[in-house]
Amino acid sequence: MMPVTWPEVGSIHPFSPEEQTGGYRLMLKTLEKWLAEITQFAAVSLQPNAGSQGEYAGLLAIRRYHQERNDPERDVCLIPLSAHGTNPASAVMAGFRVVPIECDEEGNIDVEALQAKCEEHRQHLGALMVTYPSTHGVFEETILTVCEIIHSHGGQVYMDGANMNAQVGLCSPGGIGADVCHLNLHKTFCIPHGGGGPGVGPIGVASHLVEYLPGHAVLGDEEGTVSASPWGSASINVISWMYIRMMGAAGLVAATKVALLNANYIAHRLKNYFPVLYTGAKGRVAHECIIDLRPLQKESGITVEDVAKRLIDYGFHAPTMSWPVAGTLMIEPTESESKEELDRFCEAMVSIHGEIQKVINGDWDSENNALRRAPHTAEMVSSDEWNRPYSRELAAFPVSRLRDHKFWPAVGRIDNVHGDRNLVCTCEGMEAYLED
Ligand SMILES: Cc1ncc(COP(=O)(O)O)c(C=O)c1O
Repeated sequence: MMPVTWPEVGSIHPFSPEEQTGGYRLMLKTLEKWLAEITQFAAVSLQPNAGSQGEYAGLLAIRRYHQERNDPERDVCLIPLSAHGTNPASAVMAGFRVVPIECDEEGNIDVEALQAKCEEHRQHLGALMVTYPSTHGVFEETILTVCEIIHSHGGQVYMDGANMNAQVGLCSPGGIGADVCHLNLHKTFCIPHGGGGPGVGPIGVASHLVEYLPGHAVLGDEEGTVSASPWGSASINVISWMYIRMMGAAGLVAATKVALLNANYIAHRLKNYFPVLYTGAKGRVAHECIIDLRPLQKESGITVEDVAKRLIDYGFHAPTMSWPVAGTLMIEPTESESKEELDRFCEAMVSIHGEIQKVINGDWDSENNALRRAPHTAEMVSSDEWNRPYSRELAAFPVSRLRDHKFWPAVGRIDNVHGDRNLVCTCEGMEAYLED
């Protein structure tokens, strides 16, 4: 992170002339080269500012490819139902018609349905957008077949590489047969994620698409520009540069393996408490696992949101809730969490499972309990008034570890949708502009 603050990196104007920015451009070029090597693509563009913008840039490249081959009618984009919401949004923005593909019961792309849609749209098939490993947290075993089917019907394969941290050094989008892929450097390559950015969503392309990568007037090419500056969020690329340089090839492979191991460790430790929704044929997940809270909700009335709020009392920000499947938690520990942290999380989840059992058994009131009323602030717990049917200790210190390190939430339960349903206009009316 430190070089981001160096003026040689952070104070360069994106349009500075070439002769003044030799080192800066070399850094960006080297990063492009490394990312091309990791993805096994012919070239990479750092221009897109986010994964979603990478999707847009990559799909535009595919559109232009079809158009220049006198195939402008190829405007159908197949997208599995498990896809991230940005996929259909980008496809529409890039001028495609979205056709959804069903998933089977194991959460994988239904290959027969895919084949049928390809036949149906044979003349118009432009692209497939496929996420690998899938958002269901599984390496879909049919991925090579899926790519072949698309190519044999004249389409191009767009791989959503937001889950690239499960591939780096073990397999690659280019090797699998994709034609374009975006990466989220703010996920896989260490740029801090969250808080709204900035991000970097570079795209890699196979050789036949290199000429359709985004251009920019500063680079002497105005076609296909997708962001205001030639290298998008240029300065923060130094974070990924440093990460790749310091990790080295062996380190990057180790990180991928640890990310896979960590997700499987959690899935294995929790599976007897919360069923893991999707696994591969060998019972393993990829770099994330979806645990299903719906059966427990049916029995206890405790929702996934109650569990998410209770996790705050245990010192955790909840994992992704109700996506890609409503009523579930998607846990993606990544390579960054230590075994101790994974254990702390699993213990919290097991303890919460025990609390849900108390509601099921009738030991706890179905509404007035520590789950429904979580999270508990310091103000609540230390107040002179406490008239709940459970103790203050249980509210704030459900496991002993919390005595050593306690995170106190600033607010208790809020009405999540109140703001959405009660809009308040903060701009002044026209009267404010009237002169006295
Ligand atoms: C599978 C998948 N695709 C695309 C995106 C979009 O990336 P971004 O948020 O950088 O636009 C995400 C983001 O979380 C994702 O998980």
